[in-house]
Amino acid sequence: MNRRTRQRIANLYDNFLQRSYVRGKLACDPVYAATAALVAGTNLPLLDIGCGIGLLGHYLYAQGHTQRYLGLDHDQRKITAGRAALQRSGLDAMMELRCADVAELPPTHGHVTLLDVLHYLAADRQLALLQTATGHLAPQGCLIIRNVLREKTWRFHATRVEEFFLHASGWIPGGPQHYPSVDELRVPLENAGLDVRIRPLRGHTPFNSYLIVARPHH
Ligand SMILES: C[S@@+](CC[C@H](N)C(=O)[O-])C[C@H]1O[C@@H](n2cnc3c(N)ncnc32)[C@H](O)[C@@H]1O
Repeated sequence: MNRRTRQRIANLYDNFLQRSYVRGKLACDPVYAATAALVAGTNLPLLDIGCGIGLLGHYLYAQGHTQRYLGLDHDQRKITAGRAALQRSGLDAMMELRCADVAELPPTHGHVTLLDVLHYLAADRQLALLQTATGHLAPQGCLIIRNVLREKTWRFHATRVEEFFLHASGWIPGGPQHYPSVDELRVPLENAGLDVRIRPLRGHTPFNSYLIVARPHH
């Protein structure tokens, strides 16, 4: 995505802080491009669980994707900021943002994304969410997870420090609850009959982030 497009998306948001966050996130985080590549060529609806201010939807439309995007997040402030941006973008017929908990998923079938969300839930809620999210996949859909994984590495400790400051800043009110190990994600997804691929996805950050892609076997 070029600088002009990043700036255009950032300008949809309300204030200087939000616009700076959006510009930086779109410029530095490879997760949106990775997601766009995975959903390319299908027109299945996308359910973005823990969508924050809805950036993934804007990224996808700016890159020419046309599938319906439904984002949900339990933080009313982020949904309000995201909806204001949506109205300015004129994309409100294709994109929707709802304030809801991860336990209240709408009955869609398509692709599902969980980008940097799971570790804000307790271990039992993570497992339950993986199971329900799997039930929202279409036969050609994929479950795209990006998350920090619990490992004995300096990157994992760097991530915990970053999370401490994110929580202290008020951006993520509840803060991290449980950092999953790779097997805590892989095993339930494989048990649900999905083919699971895992690779590091951290861009130029020091964080211990991975991309986990799970699809129904064909
Ligand atoms: C780090 S942000 C990621 C935002 C977005 N997925 C992205 O990558 O741009 C994590 C999001 O998960 C949301 N979240 C955490 N727990 C949640 C829950 N129980 N139900 C819904 N959303 C939740 C937070 O409000 C926050 O917006």
